[in-house]
Amino acid sequence: MAQQTIRKAVFPVAGLGTRFLPATKAMPKEMLTVFDRPIIQHVVDEAKAAGIEHFIFVTGRNKGVIEDHFDRMYELEHTLQARNKNKIFQMLMKDLPGPGQTSFTRQQAPLGLGHAVWCAREIVGNEPFALLLPDMLHHSKVPCLSEMIDAYDTYGGNLIAVAPVPEDQTHHYGIVGVDDEKAKVSRILRMIEKPTSGMAPSNLHITGRYILQPEIFALLAKHESGAGNEIQLTDSMIALMDKERQPFYAVRFKGQIYDCGSQVGFLAANVVYALDRSDLAKDIRIKLRSLID
Ligand code: G1P
Repeated sequence: MAQQTIRKAVFPVAGLGTRFLPATKAMPKEMLTVFDRPIIQHVVDEAKAAGIEHFIFVTGRNKGVIEDHFDRMYELEHTLQARNKNKIFQMLMKDLPGPGQTSFTRQQAPLGLGHAVWCAREIVGNEPFALLLPDMLHHSKVPCLSEMIDAYDTYGGNLIAVAPVPEDQTHHYGIVGVDDEKAKVSRILRMIEKPTSGMAPSNLHITGRYILQPEIFALLAKHESGAGNEIQLTDSMIALMDKERQPFYAVRFKGQIYDCGSQVGFLAANVVYALDRSDLAKDIRIKLRSLID
């Protein structure tokens, strides 16, 4: 089935990062580094690898440095070139989205993920789009969003990446019920945001990667509050599925997920991304062992 190409990705980056204070007092949590790259750069890399052409950041107060990060820095570039640091210069240039490929809009009040996504409606326009939650680093050979775009080319509709979590963790996430829990791609039958005990339809949680149809915006525009008294994206996805009869598919992610909104997840991500560096992995392993023994 020929589908409309997914060209745009939304990155909600307005959150306060209170769990990482004081590190996040004057610096956005998305700029904390996982090994040698800011968290947001890892997620933009994933989107770029999946063929995304336009990167839409929903920011907030004190997030200006994210915009600077994705811009040229002539003085720095000049200095690197003057000092023959060509490798570093090339790397910086490679990481950069091209001219006109970024947009920044602000979520003026912290009203929830659904509200943050709605803030991107004018920039997304009337086309399907990807949504990536930067806290959740998806580590795998094939980037998670690439797998989703492949599935989208076959199935169309709306897609959500899912993975199992221990049953006592389901209340932290959006949880889906599907028609075939073993399949790589399955039809979503139910969704619930942060289910209370006994209410989760499965242990498959929403991992923070989505492909959504633009009709989601009209539903988000109702600004109805849900779990935690926030405007929840999951509630509008439920309405899009149940009332508007749009299909939703779960794409089972088989890689590792590191929740960089938690201290333990953040530390684990730093170790794993450091070990990915073939030039450093051996020394890092030795150092880690010596620290633990
Ligand atoms: C959000 C979503 C939730 C999803 C989670 C993944 O929750 O609402 O469905 O499972 O991200 O991190 P939040 O982390 O904003 O509470």
